[in-house]
Amino acid sequence: MTEELNLDWANLPFGYVRTDYNVRCSYRDGKWGDVEVSTSETVNMHIAATALHYGQEIFEGLKAFRGKDGKIRVFRMRENAKRIRESALGLKMQPVPEDLFCEMVEKVVKLNARFVPPYGSGASLYIRPLEIGMSASVGVRTSTEYLFLILVSPVGPYFKGGFRPTNICIMREYDRVAPKGTGRWKVGGNYAASLGAGERAHELGYSAVLYLDPKEKKYLDECGPANFFAIKDGKYITPASDSILPSITNMSLQQIAKDMGMEVESRHITVDELAEVQEAAACGTAAVASPVGEIDDLDTGVKYVVAKDGKPGPVTTQLYNTLRAIQYGEMEDVHGWNTIIEE
Ligand code: PLP
Ligand code: COI
Repeated sequence: MTEELNLDWANLPFGYVRTDYNVRCSYRDGKWGDVEVSTSETVNMHIAATALHYGQEIFEGLKAFRGKDGKIRVFRMRENAKRIRESALGLKMQPVPEDLFCEMVEKVVKLNARFVPPYGSGASLYIRPLEIGMSASVGVRTSTEYLFLILVSPVGPYFKGGFRPTNICIMREYDRVAPKGTGRWKVGGNYAASLGAGERAHELGYSAVLYLDPKEKKYLDECGPANFFAIKDGKYITPASDSILPSITNMSLQQIAKDMGMEVESRHITVDELAEVQEAAACGTAAVASPVGEIDDLDTGVKYVVAKDGKPGPVTTQLYNTLRAIQYGEMEDVHGWNTIIEE
């Protein structure tokens, strides 16, 4: 299947596009089986599967980019392999071996190479691994059988309009996760729990909710499906919290900030401190680094205007450009973050 695709690469939304293949591997009888290549978009599962009843579902998100040199690069897949392992242990699921995870990522990207958007379109191939509990059980218990699969989809920017400031809000009546709950794992249930708040925020014209720590509602946690960082007096500051997902993009931006000579602080950030920051952004695989214009605290009525001129700040812009340049092979990958996929 090498024929040209008729996709409007530069205007892709962040959504699902059918591709040629997905890859699957099942855990049964105490071991992972062979990797299967599938063209089916459906999964056949037992009506009493633990994934359906008790939420044994975890996932990941990473991207592949078509570089300036025409090569395909996958960004930091080993980190996603490690993180899904943590999620599996958190939900008492069978962890996917890291090497199997990486082998399957490479395979699914290679098989769907024609869906990796062309260099210059600004789009990328989103890679979505997921693991589900497959055993039938009406009692609340962990599964003995699992399906791990990876699908891909070419995508454009997560926040409409791409790299330009959007407004976010704080609403204390919603929690995404519990203080010692599942927030540090990438569990489907966390996203189900965020739908109500997300919908409300969108109705009010905000692109995302800036969640506070669920215990004290005092410190910033994360920003919808992304981490949060701010630039304060030349420092990169980002919330340290047990109830947020450890973002690989955030980790990478912190390294880039250090490489730029900046100080990085991972610590509690109070809501009031937002009055003292010069820039802010949401960061993640889907969000990349999406600048924040204004943060409205809907409970106190205080509006923290961050992008005073309505434009992305200079530091956020430099961080974003550097990350993109590494991902698209325009800048040297000094930290060895990319895996090149041989076509
Ligand atoms: N926080 C949440 C809740 C997310 O869903 C994501 C997306 O994966 C992130 C943060 C960002 O993580 P990463 O940079 O690894 O994609
Ligand atoms: C990602 O950035 O990979 C995410 O998982 C966010 C997503 C839930 C849209």
